[in-house]
Amino acid sequence: MNYFNKNLQIERVKVQNIVKKLSTPLYCYSYKQLKENIDNFKKSFKSFAPLICFSIKSNNNLNLIKEIKKLGLGADVVSMGELMLALKAGINPKKIVFSGIGKTSNELKFAINKKILLINAESKSEIIEIEKIAKSKKKIINIGIRLNPNIDAKTLKQITTGKKEDKFGVDEKTFLDLVNYISFSKNINLKCLSVHLGSQILDHRPYEKMLKVLDRAIKKSNYNFEFIDLGGGMGISYTKNNKKLNYSKYNNAIKRFKKSHKSKIIFEPGRSIVGNIGYLISKVIYIKKNNKKDFIILDAAMNDFMRPALYGANHRVLPVIKTNNISKKVYEFVGPICESTDKFATLKKFQKLREKDLVAICDVGAYGISLSSNYNMRPKPAEILIKGSEINIIKKRQKLTDLI
Ligand code: LLP
Repeated sequence: MNYFNKNLQIERVKVQNIVKKLSTPLYCYSYKQLKENIDNFKKSFKSFAPLICFSIKSNNNLNLIKEIKKLGLGADVVSMGELMLALKAGINPKKIVFSGIGKTSNELKFAINKKILLINAESKSEIIEIEKIAKSKKKIINIGIRLNPNIDAKTLKQITTGKKEDKFGVDEKTFLDLVNYISFSKNINLKCLSVHLGSQILDHRPYEKMLKVLDRAIKKSNYNFEFIDLGGGMGISYTKNNKKLNYSKYNNAIKRFKKSHKSKIIFEPGRSIVGNIGYLISKVIYIKKNNKKDFIILDAAMNDFMRPALYGANHRVLPVIKTNNISKKVYEFVGPICESTDKFATLKKFQKLREKDLVAICDVGAYGISLSSNYNMRPKPAEILIKGSEINIIKKRQKLTDLI
């Protein structure tokens, strides 16, 4: 994304020209940025060539997942729907891992029939359920156990998952008991130890701690894991000066860990692959003046993009046509939904806006469309993928007739 003659461009396409053809609100993704993110991710950990399973929950656009598959990634799924989507995108089942604390019997059966790489189990009850299905099908099923390492990932409390009070994984004692339990099972083959600390992690130290916890647990279990699944969580920079995760330090910590553990490493990144590839383009419907601030009422709303309303997340807002004519008023960017949390940003400094102007909300590629809803009976926006000067519609805007 850059400005060319004061026009916001994604790759070689002027955003203003896209909006001449397609109505707002509109999700736009950059293929070049996607490829760069995947290349960088691979490069950061190239010495041990991990299996990279894209976390489908971060973006569930089928055509985007097809591109991600072509760039060599597998998938991390958390429901039958996500598993079906990953398979439809052509991802090899041997590159799919299934996480989640509440997989139903139907979901487990489906995953078993599709012969995916791993089911990462999160409780004894789930393991017993998998064993029951495996027995009835006379099969041996490969599974992982998700350990809760009890580590503070130093991220937003709503998206931390690796502390003992969180519902995810099992504690070390249960983990050791389960390793022992599975060693007597004829239908379950324990292949993996998995872990996921949380999301939007910018500090490498929680990951270092996590590896120490894993090292200790593996040594206590005295078990040889074919795979260690380290989950995702790598944070991105949402503001201009936001620091990024230090990949080199994380990589070094894994290399140290691998000196005593020869297992293949799996990652499940979502945000770090797609977060910064996406923009939500929106039009100013009205400007409502108030003596303290102006409400910039956009045609995008919290149903289209939930992160600010759900987590108080900050996302940059940019004008599509730059004027350098700064407004003296504070601007509050809001959507039309009947909720006070339907608000994207409050900015003290922004260029003067007029009704019908366009803005871009940045870094919405992860947990943007996948968290969107039809609240207030609003159809979901179209999604487009830009490749150089090509505009590809990768999902059409929902029609009201689809909803009613
Ligand atoms: N693996 C597991 C088991 C997960 O639960 C998640 C995310 C990931 C991988 C991918 O994490 P990532 O690399 O994207 O951080 N909606 C929230 C984020 C929720 C994350 C849920 N789990 C947000 O918008 O910030």
